Amino acid sequence: MTLRLTVIGTGYLGATHAACMAELGFEVLGVDVDKEKIDSLSRGELPIHEPGLPELLRKHTESGRLRFTTSFEEAGAFGDVHFIAVGTPQRAGEHAADMTYVDASVAAIARAATKDSLIVGKSTVPVGSARRLKGLVAEEARDGVTVNFAWNPEFLREGFAVEDTLRPDRLVIGVDSASAEATLREVYADAISRETPFISTDFETAELVKVAANAFLATKISFINAFSEVTETVGGNIRTLADAIGLDARIGRRFLNAGIGFGGGCLPKDIRALQARVSELGLDSTMRFLNEVDEVNLRRRDRAVHVAETLLGALEGKRVAVLGVAFKPNSDDVRDSPALDVAARLFNSGADVSVYDPAANANAAKRYPRLNYVDSLATAVADADLVMLLTEWNEFVNVDPAELAAAVSHKRMFDGRNVLDHEKWTAAGWDIVSLGHKSELLELAAAN
Ligand code: UDX
Repeated sequence: MTLRLTVIGTGYLGATHAACMAELGFEVLGVDVDKEKIDSLSRGELPIHEPGLPELLRKHTESGRLRFTTSFEEAGAFGDVHFIAVGTPQRAGEHAADMTYVDASVAAIARAATKDSLIVGKSTVPVGSARRLKGLVAEEARDGVTVNFAWNPEFLREGFAVEDTLRPDRLVIGVDSASAEATLREVYADAISRETPFISTDFETAELVKVAANAFLATKISFINAFSEVTETVGGNIRTLADAIGLDARIGRRFLNAGIGFGGGCLPKDIRALQARVSELGLDSTMRFLNEVDEVNLRRRDRAVHVAETLLGALEGKRVAVLGVAFKPNSDDVRDSPALDVAARLFNSGADVSVYDPAANANAAKRYPRLNYVDSLATAVADADLVMLLTEWNEFVNVDPAELAAAVSHKRMFDGRNVLDHEKWTAAGWDIVSLGHKSELLELAAAN
């Protein structure tokens, strides 16, 4: 008989996992404590921007293979496998991850399970959590019901979440029993049949794989951004530098794009939670370099603000057009978005900021309602004293500098993502400053 799956937590990760598992042929029940979210998902409506996901959600809420509920009792009677996909946000005022939602949902589903089943953690957690949670499951499970436990980290990227879930580049599971592994092999039979690497290991390794991957990616970005500080001072081309070192197969070119740095719901909080966790383990200096990674990253935002201030003199009353506030293109997510942070800081220093993002305006407005959000690039740049490209949506990368020139007050462009062709923009009469590049213009402006 085909396994019945539940997915507890229907945010980004959970909604994607639930819809993709239904696409793979499983009967899936999504569970969340947020009734409004469950109602809208049941209607096939998705509150997030993710290419391909709305179609899958509609397809399987209509086929009946995907349903949603707020009832743990229903989930406990239904599921053979329960995936835990709730959030582990940064604790207020601390670096550590908040495990409240994971603990509560694991305990609730263990209590509710009325048939033998497997609970599988997917959330990003401090190492050691899986072993502790397994103990919690043993305490909470009903007499006569066997509830097993496993860890299965998730590596999906926003903007590619469906693709990453249906065709992952690797599968990692942390298990302590052959039966848990057999069940997970059944869940992922489709990917395994395509020879996707399948790594079966212990709980601790599985938990660490996730945080190690994110810490490495964050380090790679801050590495190139640290070199940006050097090239901004001494000269040189940061893009060419990245291309040249990236050709070394041991290094690789991906995640070496210099700019205003990383943000989002994962990388920033995960490197902080990792530092907090290893300190708890008594390894105070082990992950200290991640503090530097974080600081280099945050300094890029300072630099963007500094460039705007230098180019415009006082910011008071100056019109700044901000192109992009999502933490990355093809996403409407503004969690810890460097772009939104820079926009808000310019506004707070007195600039008249117009913001246009193809997908993230609404989410940004919830966070910073006082910025002026407009619904087209043309409206954003009208009469601008400075245009700042902060998230590299294709719409901005491909914009025609001559066309834009006609709309602005001053042809000044700040390329915060290193995606524009300097020669082309300069030929169209623009003064352009990019992060990671030494700028005579900036030196002149600073001298005045
Ligand atoms: C990340 C991991 O990639 C993913 O495997 C994990 O499951 C969740 O966290 P995501 O948060 O979707 O995914 O974004 P990612 O594509 O990794 O980008 C993170 C941030 O780094 C973005 O703000 C992006 O703009 C920035 N970035 C990325 C750079 O500044 N330079 C780069 O070269 C690459």
